[in-house]
Amino acid sequence: MRLLFVGDVVGSMGRDTVTEYLPKLKKKYRPQVTILNGENAAAGRGITEKIYKKFLQDGVDVVTLGNHTWDNRDIFEFIDDAKKMIRPANFPETTTPGKGIVYVKVNAVELAVINLQGRTFMVDLDDPFKKIEEMVEEARKRTPLIFVDFHAETTSEKQAMGWFLDGHVSAVVGTHTHVQTNDAHVLPGGTAYLTDVGMTGPYDGILGMKRDAVIGKFRTALPHRFEVVEQGRSNLSYCVIELDDQTGKAKSIQVGQVNEDTPFKD
Ligand SMILES: [Fe+2]
Repeated sequence: MRLLFVGDVVGSMGRDTVTEYLPKLKKKYRPQVTILNGENAAAGRGITEKIYKKFLQDGVDVVTLGNHTWDNRDIFEFIDDAKKMIRPANFPETTTPGKGIVYVKVNAVELAVINLQGRTFMVDLDDPFKKIEEMVEEARKRTPLIFVDFHAETTSEKQAMGWFLDGHVSAVVGTHTHVQTNDAHVLPGGTAYLTDVGMTGPYDGILGMKRDAVIGKFRTALPHRFEVVEQGRSNLSYCVIELDDQTGKAKSIQVGQVNEDTPFKD
């Protein structure tokens, strides 16, 4: 099984970039499952039902989320009906709408896609390590093919999760920090690992936001209103992972970007 994972889509530029390049990427790599992190899709904060449906129309199979899941109130209206959308699984179990895992059927096999959130420099959710241990045990009763989007701030927490899950899941790929890291590799136990897949959207912003406000905040320590960049050059970040259908182990992981410096090639 081949997976395509597109990193954090930010605002309208990110969405337009997905519409333009996702069909081309799918034609190039022929993935059986396409996953996309959409937690910044609505003007940088959260996602709407309209945007979720557009992603599916563009060829996405599963939308993952993160710390901005609840920022757009629209989410509470449709999250329980959005069968192909998952939010971090380690939000408090009894009080949180939605789900943190979804199974995608591909011919005779199934892929479990799990969304999880880190705790370092982030909201103090339930322990992601304990949560994933329970979830993987459960998921492996159905399938050895398991993809984890670990939405976390620190490299160390992401690496720790990668090693913790090595040999137990097919892939651990980080999101949230918006800059693609240069460490895609398969760990010794057969788990594909990447600290961060990177973002999709404005190429010339600061993590997708207009630069002046971010620089101003650093320089003055006064509050600034952050807004998503809405025009200019764009970037799409992704990774492609090849899995062994029998064992669930990863055979390879490669990263890619589409932007003015590294244009799309067939
Ligand atoms: Fe995030």
